[in-house]
Amino acid sequence: MTYSIPHPIQYQGSKRNLASAILRYAPRDMDRLIEPFAGSAAISIAAAASRLANTYLINDLNRPLIELLRLMVEKPLESAEHYRRIWNGQHGNSIEHYYSVREEFNRTLDPNLFLYLLARCVKGSVRYNSDGLFNQSPDKRRHGTQPETMRANIFGVSSLLKGRAIFSSLDYRDVLEKAGVTDLVYMDPPYQGVCGERDSRYYSGISHDKFIAALERLNSRGISYIVSYDGRRGDKTFGEPLPVSLGLTRIELHAGRSSQATLLGRDELTYESLYLSSALTKRLERKLSGYRQADAIQCALFEPHASYA
Ligand SMILES: C[S@@+](CC[C@H](N)C(=O)[O-])C[C@H]1O[C@@H](n2cnc3c(N)ncnc32)[C@H](O)[C@@H]1O
Repeated sequence: MTYSIPHPIQYQGSKRNLASAILRYAPRDMDRLIEPFAGSAAISIAAAASRLANTYLINDLNRPLIELLRLMVEKPLESAEHYRRIWNGQHGNSIEHYYSVREEFNRTLDPNLFLYLLARCVKGSVRYNSDGLFNQSPDKRRHGTQPETMRANIFGVSSLLKGRAIFSSLDYRDVLEKAGVTDLVYMDPPYQGVCGERDSRYYSGISHDKFIAALERLNSRGISYIVSYDGRRGDKTFGEPLPVSLGLTRIELHAGRSSQATLLGRDELTYESLYLSSALTKRLERKLSGYRQADAIQCALFEPHASYA
């Protein structure tokens, strides 16, 4: 039986297509799944659909995004109605409507307005200017998800996470302090290769060195974690790999075919790196010896390219 996982939020960089590949490495005895860089919360939603954790901690520094997720989960009817009303308001001059919603959102930070902007903006990709104002343009060829489809997605997410999720909008390092040894932390930080800690593609960027220090601290506390970080397309790598000294296991996930390369007549596949902490691999190995973990994990963990240490 195929079951479609609800996704109300269009978000560039969403891990929705890789969620099941990533969650193969989630321990089956996980108490709580913590997502410090949740974005659209694709991993928490997919994990909840497979009932992998008892509770979920969903965090992102982008407060309107987290407020939007909270509203959808806790007040789905209200959230769906707001979307329907704002979406219907675009009949007439939809471009003008988009810009007036964007102006109002930048003034009020109302998460209901944000849902419409995310559904209607170019490629679901958020963009911020140096004043932290949302400045992405509308997609002129699309009108954004139909209200009935959005409503079904909102109610779907609510039924998966209501009563099980805690939402916060903190810096990731404050969230990591809350992790315990029975949890799993999944981290998908903003893309690398940006100067400083500003990133116009997201609300904020992060420093590579501070991130590595945070991972060292998690190691010393025996926390199980997974990080999505660098990758490659064909022979071209993007992002700096995580240092070997962290003792992580690196796995390459096949992330699809590059449409740009296909257009240029090249047949290039994209791979994303996934790093598993040593506390996590030990936990998965313990389960394996008890014959309770899926065979897939055994194959993946011990295939030749898995370890780079
Ligand atoms: C690559 S996106 C995550 C995408 C997510 N995995 C998904 O499936 O939608 C990275 C996220 O990190 C957030 N972020 C940036 N700096 C942060 C910080 N210091 N603490 C917490 N979140 C942060 C951004 O707002 C952005 O949503």
